[in-house]
Amino acid sequence: MATTAGRPGTTATGRRAARRLELLMCSPEHFTVSYEINPWMDAATDVDTGRALAQWTALRRTFERLGHGVRVLPGLPGLPDMVYAANGALVAAQGSVGVRFAHPERAGEAEAYARWLEDAGLGPVHRPEHVNEGEGDLLVVGEHLLAGHGFRTELAAHREVEAVLGRPVTSLRLVDPRFYHLDTALTVLDDDPEHPDVAWFPGAFDEESRGVLETLFPRGLRTDEETARVLGMNAVSDGRHVVLSPRAQRYAAQLAERGYEPVPVDLSELLRGGGGAKCCVLVLRR
Ligand code: ARG
Repeated sequence: MATTAGRPGTTATGRRAARRLELLMCSPEHFTVSYEINPWMDAATDVDTGRALAQWTALRRTFERLGHGVRVLPGLPGLPDMVYAANGALVAAQGSVGVRFAHPERAGEAEAYARWLEDAGLGPVHRPEHVNEGEGDLLVVGEHLLAGHGFRTELAAHREVEAVLGRPVTSLRLVDPRFYHLDTALTVLDDDPEHPDVAWFPGAFDEESRGVLETLFPRGLRTDEETARVLGMNAVSDGRHVVLSPRAQRYAAQLAERGYEPVPVDLSELLRGGGGAKCCVLVLRR
């Protein structure tokens, strides 16, 4: 893709270039909040599953309208968090890594995702020894594979993923329980190795990790508490369009200033489980 000398990632027309994404989503027929494994979840409040399904469908239609491919895995009864497909695996160009959940409540999802990927020809799927929650904590940004730890994915899993995929993993420590997965603290805005771009909320990381991110992405967008606390960072970008929470207005303005097109989609019902747009998709990279 041709880029101008001016802004990295933009075409001759000054627009950012979108890439087509192939996504896996899991329908929320069985979504509810029946246990609490992150600070967003409150098992005492009623969840409107019909509303969650309508919002999820709107998200799916949004991706399709933007030209992306969406494949759907039906959710299974008894696995209310299965809608958060990001936690199902990491499907990278070098191979597919399955997941092992930190909490027993989600354990049953791991094999369902691994089998789906293998049936879809995206296997073999490595069954991990250490806890890793897939793309929730493992994010590909061009040449970099960023990995969160501190709440869910174990540091030992970073080394395991490195060995399985044969590519280096950059470990980042998460310190705020509200931002328990890396994808709740950092958005991959542009995955192109030529001009990778991220947005991140510094308050979610320890000091050393902040230094690492500053060094890797000196031009990265730093966001604030106002954005992070509405789970604004949990957004999906194709390099041009950024699907995000309508509550993250300041973030949308910052993205527009940077040449991105914010695409707000309301997922308030799914937020009750502690997830936003990014949690609902797994990027299939092969
Ligand atoms: N209730 C789920 C959990 O706590 C939410 C997962 C959100 N997924 C994500 N990729 N951040 O595990």
